[in-house]
Amino acid sequence: MTTTGSGARAGLDAIETASRDELTALQLERLRWSLDHAYRNVPHYRSAFDRAGARPDDVRSLADIAAFPFLVKSDLRENYPFGLFAVPRESVVRIHASSGTTGKPTVVGYTSNDIDTWAGLVARSIYAAGGRPGQIVHVAYGYGLFTGGLGAHYGAERLGCSVVPMSGGQTERQVQLIRDFRPDLIMVTPSYLLTIAEEFERQGLDGRTASLTTAICGAEPWSDTLRAEIERRMGLDAVDIYGLSEVMGPGVASECVESKDGPVLWEDHFYPEIVDPDTGAVLPDGTEGELVLTSLSKEALPVIRYRTRDRTCLLPPTSRGMRRLGRIRARTDDMLIIRGVNVFPSQIEELILRERVFAPLYLLEVTRAGHLDALTVHVEWPAGAPSGAAPREAAANKLAHLVKVSIGISVEVVIGDPMTLERSTGKARHVIDRRRG
Ligand code: DLL
Repeated sequence: MTTTGSGARAGLDAIETASRDELTALQLERLRWSLDHAYRNVPHYRSAFDRAGARPDDVRSLADIAAFPFLVKSDLRENYPFGLFAVPRESVVRIHASSGTTGKPTVVGYTSNDIDTWAGLVARSIYAAGGRPGQIVHVAYGYGLFTGGLGAHYGAERLGCSVVPMSGGQTERQVQLIRDFRPDLIMVTPSYLLTIAEEFERQGLDGRTASLTTAICGAEPWSDTLRAEIERRMGLDAVDIYGLSEVMGPGVASECVESKDGPVLWEDHFYPEIVDPDTGAVLPDGTEGELVLTSLSKEALPVIRYRTRDRTCLLPPTSRGMRRLGRIRARTDDMLIIRGVNVFPSQIEELILRERVFAPLYLLEVTRAGHLDALTVHVEWPAGAPSGAAPREAAANKLAHLVKVSIGISVEVVIGDPMTLERSTGKARHVIDRRRG
């Protein structure tokens, strides 16, 4: 890692602690390159920029980006598979894809420079989490077309760690290897780490005595209450890593263990904006809206003003010189509207976890009876909790009451027997919306 430059701190890339002016100058130079690269090499951008009358040459300040059109997920699908690549296909050394719930997957490509940047940013993210060269990193994100496994892997290798490429699933095996190899760090979705914690307990083991000191969790929304639960059961620090395949993969933003106050957006490679999801207007820092990202250095697949559909806000710098993301509560399209009230699954998650009465997992089922939406909250009674109907009924009523007073909707709470809800091995599914047929 680079340790020279103004404001450098040992072990950090110099730009992580650079002044705002230095960062802005670098961003502007890279932004102009990225816009020009996209315009010259990708027909989609050329016609979209021309239609909007936006010219890369005219960009004088970062705010000028607002003149450029957004890129949306359907643009990636319409240019399936390689239509948005800005380099000859032969220069693309890696392809990833997201499965997508319907139709064609979203395909992304990387040049060897892109892979190099990505590895560097994940290494920076692991360092921010407290990871150091020489440590052992257990990667339990899935390997394959999903960016989680390979993204984490290359970053951990870059930092100089010993990597265990376990991938997701085979939970008993995960526990065995964690016990035998004694890793320092684990990189895993928060919901799967809970499944692993449960497996420790099922085998009569105490997760807190395992070697792990740090978990780098992401790829799905999770609350601070879930963080506390994970930390308590596994006896480690859990930090948040954010990313998405369209923009790179894991490591677009990542949290510093010393502050645990939201992922630092690696602004030297990505320019963030928050926009009003309905009007597209740019919102000031601190206001919640949809995160829009522009890549500043990507060669194979430049993304200009990509609408992530993730709801968050931009927060001022703390542990590094770059801005942070607020908790990503959900994708805009994960927000449920129940009888006119906006509900994020993570709000209900907080209430379920807070009392520590239920097992820390849940499934929200939305139905429609006539014209009325109905929400059923499925939770699970933990093994060893008092038996009989009365304690369950009291717990169900209490949770329904908490939801009513804090979110403002009436729900039915259904408590299943221990081990009846589906366990996550990757990204957990928290919602079944039966209104969509
Ligand atoms: O999930 C990349 C990744 C892998 C990130 C491993 C972190 C760790 P996708 O499959 O394309 O890529 O899904 C991206 O997942 O738009 C968010 O909605 C959600 N997401 C990712 N990280 C977080 C996070 C990977 N820390 C989508 N908090 C994103 C909340 C997250 N949501």
